[in-house]
Amino acid sequence: MLTWLICLLLVTACPFVQSQRVQSFWPAAIPLAVRSPYFSCWLPTAQNENPLTQWPQFWHYVKTNGAQTLGWAGFARVDSTMYQWLGDWSDNPVTKGTVIPANLTSFQITPTRTILAIRAGAMDLNVTFLTPIEPSDWVRQSIPFSYIALDASSNDGQPHDFQVYADISAEWLSANGSSVVNWTTTPADSVIYHEIKLSSPIPFDETSGQANDGMMYHAMTNGVDVSYQTGSDETCRGQFQNNGNLDGTLDSDFRPITSTFPVFPLSVDLGSISSTPSPVVWTVGYVRDPAIQYTTPDGTAQSRSPYFRANFSSPTEFISFFLSDYSAASQRSQTLDQQILQDAMNVSSNLADLVSLAARQVFGGIDITISNGTGGWNTSDVMVFMKDMGNTQRVNPVEVLYQAFPMFLYLNASFGKPLLAPLLEFQDSPQFTLPYAAADIGTSYPVASGDTAAHNQEIEQSANMLIMTLAHARTSGDGSLISQHYNLLKSWANYLVNNTLTPAANQQSADQISIANSTNLAVKGIIGIQAMAEISRAMGEDGDAEFFGQEATVLIGTWELLALSSDQQHLLLDYSDETSWALMYNLYADRLLGTNLVNSSIYQKQTIFYESLSADPNFGLGIDSDHTSMGDSGETWLLFAAAAAEANGTDFLISKAWDHASFNQTPGIFPTQYDTSRGTLTGGAASPGQGAMFAPLALSVSNTTIVIPPSPTANTNKAKAKAKSVNVGAIVGGVVGGLCVVGCGVVASLLWRRRSRNSLDTVEKVENITVGPEPFPYNSAPNVPMSSTSGLGEAPEALPLVSPEHIATSGQTSGIVPSSKMREMMLNHSAPRQPTTSASATSGTSSEPASSREPPSSNSGGLSPSDVQSLRTEVENLRRVMLEIRAERDEPPPGYTG
Ligand SMILES: *[C@@H]1O[C@H](CO)[C@@H](O)[C@H](O)[C@H]1NC(C)=O
Ligand SMILES: *[C@@H]1O[C@H](CO)[C@@H](O)[C@H](O)[C@H]1NC(C)=O
Ligand SMILES: *[C@@H]1O[C@H](CO)[C@@H](O)[C@H](O)[C@H]1NC(C)=O
Ligand SMILES: *[C@@H]1O[C@H](CO)[C@@H](O)[C@H](O)[C@H]1NC(C)=O
Ligand SMILES: *[C@@H]1O[C@H](CO)[C@@H](O)[C@H](O)[C@H]1NC(C)=O
Ligand SMILES: *[C@@H]1O[C@H](CO)[C@@H](O)[C@H](O)[C@H]1NC(C)=O
Ligand SMILES: *[C@@H]1O[C@H](CO)[C@@H](O)[C@H](O)[C@H]1NC(C)=O
Ligand SMILES: *[C@@H]1O[C@H](CO)[C@@H](O)[C@H](O)[C@H]1NC(C)=O
Ligand SMILES: *[C@@H]1O[C@H](CO)[C@@H](O)[C@H](O)[C@H]1NC(C)=O
Repeated sequence: MLTWLICLLLVTACPFVQSQRVQSFWPAAIPLAVRSPYFSCWLPTAQNENPLTQWPQFWHYVKTNGAQTLGWAGFARVDSTMYQWLGDWSDNPVTKGTVIPANLTSFQITPTRTILAIRAGAMDLNVTFLTPIEPSDWVRQSIPFSYIALDASSNDGQPHDFQVYADISAEWLSANGSSVVNWTTTPADSVIYHEIKLSSPIPFDETSGQANDGMMYHAMTNGVDVSYQTGSDETCRGQFQNNGNLDGTLDSDFRPITSTFPVFPLSVDLGSISSTPSPVVWTVGYVRDPAIQYTTPDGTAQSRSPYFRANFSSPTEFISFFLSDYSAASQRSQTLDQQILQDAMNVSSNLADLVSLAARQVFGGIDITISNGTGGWNTSDVMVFMKDMGNTQRVNPVEVLYQAFPMFLYLNASFGKPLLAPLLEFQDSPQFTLPYAAADIGTSYPVASGDTAAHNQEIEQSANMLIMTLAHARTSGDGSLISQHYNLLKSWANYLVNNTLTPAANQQSADQISIANSTNLAVKGIIGIQAMAEISRAMGEDGDAEFFGQEATVLIGTWELLALSSDQQHLLLDYSDETSWALMYNLYADRLLGTNLVNSSIYQKQTIFYESLSADPNFGLGIDSDHTSMGDSGETWLLFAAAAAEANGTDFLISKAWDHASFNQTPGIFPTQYDTSRGTLTGGAASPGQGAMFAPLALSVSNTTIVIPPSPTANTNKAKAKAKSVNVGAIVGGVVGGLCVVGCGVVASLLWRRRSRNSLDTVEKVENITVGPEPFPYNSAPNVPMSSTSGLGEAPEALPLVSPEHIATSGQTSGIVPSSKMREMMLNHSAPRQPTTSASATSGTSSEPASSREPPSSNSGGLSPSDVQSLRTEVENLRRVMLEIRAERDEPPPGYTG
């Protein structure tokens, strides 16, 4: 029944299923169990091989030795014939010819699930890899487990003798195969599980991206038809192949991971059936506790645990909870998938594929943690840490967080606070003295020790922080970060006021490109200043609000004069570089925040301009006219640009991103950076930055009144504080910032707000900050009671009926066929194309637009020299006005003193 609903949902959502075409969406790797930076298992599909004869891989595999196998084997025994539905056990001397690889008929990827439709002789299988996304439930979201559910039915109308089997190896525990592991098997009443661990774990350490301090679990609900065993791969798989069950033998020869590979199987004998009465469910899990070492503002190294540890005291408890929650979790996942897919389909069907591939990847880049104090678990001290997967080991990399932010805003903006809080706390401590925002809080995940190093992304990261802080506050209504860190935020805005209009030559973008007078970087800084104006307004700091608002208005006027090409038809990469252009992804923030700084005609012009570049038959536009192919593009920025484009430009840019996401001729997990002509990965494999796929959806999330939590000292004489804003603002901000550590508990307990599309209707407008305690307009923390295994899962909405013949693809079982689109691309690639950068585009001296880039010339041509001169005069005048505004302030903006 459940599967039926899933199918209906998929048919509704995915046009390629309806249209009976060959599978069209073919990412190079598909998610199997993707839940945290160290629990990230993918199935490679590249090079047209049957994915059911591949070992699943850790996300990191492309960058190191080519393979970083996570041993995970699945078999189905049909009338004594053994079929392999996962792993690569069918092609070695022992098994060749006797273990038959099953055929993959089709697969579906939804935001929470990967569903493989498989033919194994006379039985058809649907194997569903479900990694739930629980955006309103930190207990469930932080349980590092994933489900595998198997449904089967006979395809010849006859019942068949049917047994199923899955095992994992110890390769999940370390990339160092010489590491010794030990294990236990616990057959409890309700559940049976294997627990495997390193005999000498190394805390907070990783090898080739894999941690060396976790515990692996393989579990299932116990029952009479369930059997288990431990032993070498040959022993256990051979026992199942010959007997259809496992014999309960326990191997206690603890040994290195790769020494006659110990495996940890669980199997079920279903007897003679024509279909499974209910799905067979296994679960795999990888627990690290502590998960993160965080340096607190006072310099203490604090070990932080995954959130769910507060609710469970033993593995039996959380494994039982997770397994018994399966059908409710599956229902919740369907509801969430349906919501996300419907919203995405309203933009485009390509976007539905992109968000489906991205969602688990983003959650697979974070750890949700709490601290353990003297009074026990402190569930109000929540911090979320993100790893810069695919690039470095940086902790909470600000530009990646910024890329991912739209997904969190869309699913539950309350994630913003625990993601930003560690960054803000550290930078508000005396340890941090830079005048601009840090790029991260540490360079070796999972150790968040703070980062005081100077860097060149000064404008980029300061603006990112301001934009995200405001976005979180206005979407969640939670003004606590703003009030705790007001002065810090203001110091960054002041930095931008001084530096953003004409970015210096060493200022780097998020793509690590430095160019003087970058239009794209400049506009991000200006939007950041306007964000500060909104932040000040929410705080009741009207003087600051007016100042930053005026600065932003004047700066944007100047920027428009400098940033447009002389024919006024598109934005330049850098001022006066007439033949240049850039993917203006930073305009997105203006739309997201509703700051409306940038003239709407510019959005229209950019959209037309991007389309004029569309002759390139490659995977994207490149980041700018200096970087059209090699290494510097990414689906992430395409989606930001798409969301900031006018209607049909959105489709065009999204389809470019889709073309690459669905290109499986080069390996790599949905990367943020790739070569736009060849499609090869250049960085950001498995990066959580792919939350950017939600950029178009985040634009329709409504904002709400920001409520500043009352603070004992800030209460008094609010009216007076407003009247004389600059001085008093600094004091109040300082005091609030200083009280942060004390006040945290109170504020954090008010953290959760269930996402509500109707928040605007239900939220009471609070225009002025009141003196007494003000209830927050969102729900409090969702602690799941231990007994609760259901209740959250509401029945999915009624789905439109679709007749069965429209469901799933044909009976074709001929292995993997590249989509027509992909084949077309391959053909294009074998015929070398002309480089897309024309010579005139780089000459830089002509004031005429490069002919190959020229937009449809319905409008007047370039500006005459005298026009340019008068524009320059105007710029000078605007500058003078700005200086006057600054001079009018009683005193210079207070510098950051920490
Ligand atoms: C897989 O497909 C091939 C080609 O159609 C067929 O020969 C083979 O029997 C199929 N295997 C299974 C397990 O159904
Ligand atoms: C698998 O799912 C498809 C729809 O995708 C459905 O038609 C089929 O009946 C399912 N098969 C099994 C064995 O559950
Ligand atoms: C791998 O583990 C073995 C056994 O613990 C150890 O001797 C060796 O140094 C490790 N190798 C690496 C590269 O860490
Ligand atoms: C198993 O490994 C743990 C560390 O993960 C260690 O404390 C324990 O002593 C080991 N047990 C055996 C029997 O080697
Ligand atoms: C949590 O802290 C308490 C009190 O300090 C301590 O007794 C307990 O062992 C700690 N728990 C864990 C899992 O560290
Ligand atoms: C901005 O520039 C002014 C004038 O040069 C200077 O007084 C002020 O300290 C600068 N502020 C920041 C935050 O850099
Ligand atoms: C940046 O642009 C400004 C304004 O047009 C100009 O004065 C300045 O020389 C430019 N800087 C560089 C390094 O080109
Ligand atoms: C939402 O944002 C807009 C600006 O984009 C603002 O005018 C409006 O007042 C905001 N609504 C609330 C409830 O704060
Ligand atoms: C987008 O719309 C414009 C104006 O309606 C049209 O000229 C252009 O061809 C369209 N582009 C695409 C890719 O559909």
